[in-house]
Parts: sequence; structure tokens; C-alpha cells
Amino acid sequence: MPTPQELLAALKQVKYPGFSRDIVDFGIVKDIEIGGAKVTVYLTPSTENTEALALLRQSVINILTPLVQVPVEVIMERPPPAAIPGQAKATAPTAPAIPGVRHVLAVASGKGGVGKSTVAVNLALALVALGQRVGVLDADVYGPSVPLMLGITERPQTTEDKRMLPVHKYGLNVMSIGMLVPDGQAVVWRGPMIDKLLTEFIRNVEWGELDVLVVDLPPGTGDAQLTMVQKTPLSGGVIVTTPQDVALLDVRRGMKMFEEVKVPVLGVIENMSYHVCGKCGHRAEIFSHGGGAKMAAQFHVPLLGEIPLVREIRVDGDQGTPIVVANPEHPQSQAFRHIAEQVIQRLEERAKRHLTVH
Ligand SMILES: Nc1ncnc2c1ncn2[C@@H]1O[C@H](COP(=O)(O)OP(=O)(O)OP(=O)(O)O)[C@@H](O)[C@H]1O
Ligand SMILES: [Mg+2]
Repeated sequence: MPTPQELLAALKQVKYPGFSRDIVDFGIVKDIEIGGAKVTVYLTPSTENTEALALLRQSVINILTPLVQVPVEVIMERPPPAAIPGQAKATAPTAPAIPGVRHVLAVASGKGGVGKSTVAVNLALALVALGQRVGVLDADVYGPSVPLMLGITERPQTTEDKRMLPVHKYGLNVMSIGMLVPDGQAVVWRGPMIDKLLTEFIRNVEWGELDVLVVDLPPGTGDAQLTMVQKTPLSGGVIVTTPQDVALLDVRRGMKMFEEVKVPVLGVIENMSYHVCGKCGHRAEIFSHGGGAKMAAQFHVPLLGEIPLVREIRVDGDQGTPIVVANPEHPQSQAFRHIAEQVIQRLEERAKRHLTVH
């Protein structure tokens, strides 16, 4: 018998009636129950059109029956308001949801320079490659590097009613403080200013309909970061780390930070895991590799992936074309897509579990 994950993957072949997106993507597959003699699929379609519902039911049965070889039952449930695609979903009770944004994902790191922004940007682009509608909010007010990484030089436009429009690049909706202050100008941000700015970015930006808004947090897990995490309606967080042993401590702090505001940690991404030689493809472990796996076991948090240290990642990132766009077939781009798949799956699972509870 296939696993629920395998069945979920198979259900990606079923398009939502009238749309080119599939039902998994749409988030209407709420549960898959595998019993000995039958498989039950719970769907929460937002349509009430009986023809569309019948078509949906039949497509699910047609796809799954050959795989499971037992009867497949499809149960349609009325969606709770938050299950309607495009509607906001927040688990952090402190911050109100962002209209039109389904999931908000924070990318955090215990310390600077571990490749957090590189991961945030490439992960966002990998989500685009998977057909998701994605935004990037660069909340790193101290060192906003997202505009440079994406090669964005223009300033965001403002609507007549003074709302900011994100800049579009590579299929992403992007907003960063780096687009608002002149290049190279040092800004000393104080707590209240940061709060105000973040609130502006969350409340006063026309983010549009998004499946995922990726937030690049400032490095570290101090009070400033904690306040940000509190003020942002997060669905989940990921922690970027490097493989050295000391990084485990950083991960522990990162997990504590998210725990404090009851935001689930979806997993850890180990960056600069090992070095791949650009010429011969040889894989050299420059740090003690495997720290991420060790940490995952210790903290019971999934290791979402290991990104090797590759020259192209830096060069492409520094030139404004991240590797996922510059070279989609590169093994590292594939690694980012693999991480993106897990992230979206976990976000959907969280949303589902959250819905089942209520
Ligand atoms: N896997 C990788 N392989 C090669 N270079 C990398 C990799 N990940 C990041 N880099 C490079 O390392 C540098 C730091 O990365 P990045 O700016 O993403 O880190 P950060 O954690 O966001 O840093 P900060 O704390 O300054 O915000 C950049 O020049 C980036 O291109
Ligand atoms: Mg950064």
C-alpha cells in the first residue's frame, strides 16, 4: 500500500475543475485515510456546483484506484472559511492575517552570514517553479540584501490611496527596505521605527493573492527578531544553519524563539553543507558534515535539505540572478525545489491540522 504522501503526490494529477492548478496545490485535500479495505479521501472544495463535484470525485477515484487496489471513497466537506484558496491562515494569534496571503513563512538563522537570504530567495523562486504564487518580504532592516540578490533597482510604486505596490521580479512580489533608502545609506533603526516599518510592510503593501509570503528575518534570535516574529502572522518558520557543531546552539535558540510565539518550526536547512568542486564535481566535506541530521534527531525537527557550498550560488546571487533562475537544472536548484516541496507540504499539513482542531 502506498503512503498517504505518495497518494497525495498522485492527486497532484487532478486539476481543480475550471482551473489549471491541481487540487493539492489548491489545498482542498484535507486528509487521506488508509484503512485495510478502503481508502478515504476528504476534500473541501469551495464550489457547490454538483457537476464539478461529481467530476472531482470521479477523477480522484480514477487516479487512486489503480494505485491502492481497494475501493476509494471521496468525502466532500464544506470548507471552513480559511480553507478557501487565497484566504489568509495564521496560527500566531497575536498578529492579524494578511488579506489574500495563505501562508507566511519566516526564514531565520541564529547568526549572520549563514546564507539565510540566499536560501530565502532561492526557496521563494523554487516555490514559483512549483507553480505557487509567492512574495518575498525582506524584513532584514539592518542588512537588506534581497534587492541586490534579485537585481532589483527600481523603487516600489505607490497607489493613489498611499498603499505600496511590491516590485515584480522573476515571478515574485518583492518588498524590501533596501528599495526605499538610497543605496549604501546606513540607517540606524530603533525599536519603534522597526515596528512601524514592519507594520507598514505587512498592512500597507498590496501583496496580492499569494500562496506563500517568504519573510527574510534579520539574523539572530534576540529581542528585535522576537518582536518581528510576534508582529508577523506566521504560519511557520524554517531555520538556516551551517554544519559546524556550534550551529546546533543557534538552532536551539531559533527554535526557542518560534516556540515562544507558538509558531511551528517546519524544519532546518543546512547550508554550505559540503563543497562541490566546480570542475570535477568532487564532494568534499569541509566542515564536519551531518550536523544538521544530528540536530534534527536531537530536536525532533525535520532536516529539510542540505545545500552544498557551490561557487555558482554566490556568483549568481551577487549578480542578481539566483541559481534557481540562472540554472534551474543545477543540482542545487533541484535541492531548493526539493526543500520547497516539503515546505509547501508541511504548510498545508499545518493548515489542515489547524482546521481539523476547530
Ligand atoms: N551554499 C552556498 N554556496 C556558496 N556561497 C553561498 C552559499 N550560501 C550563501 N553563499 C554566499 O555567502 C554570502 C552570505 O550569504 P547571505 O547573504 O545569504 O547570508 P545571510 O545569512 O543572509 O547573511 P546576513 O547575516 O548578512 O543577512 C553571500 O555572498 C552568498 O552568495
Ligand atoms: Mg541576509
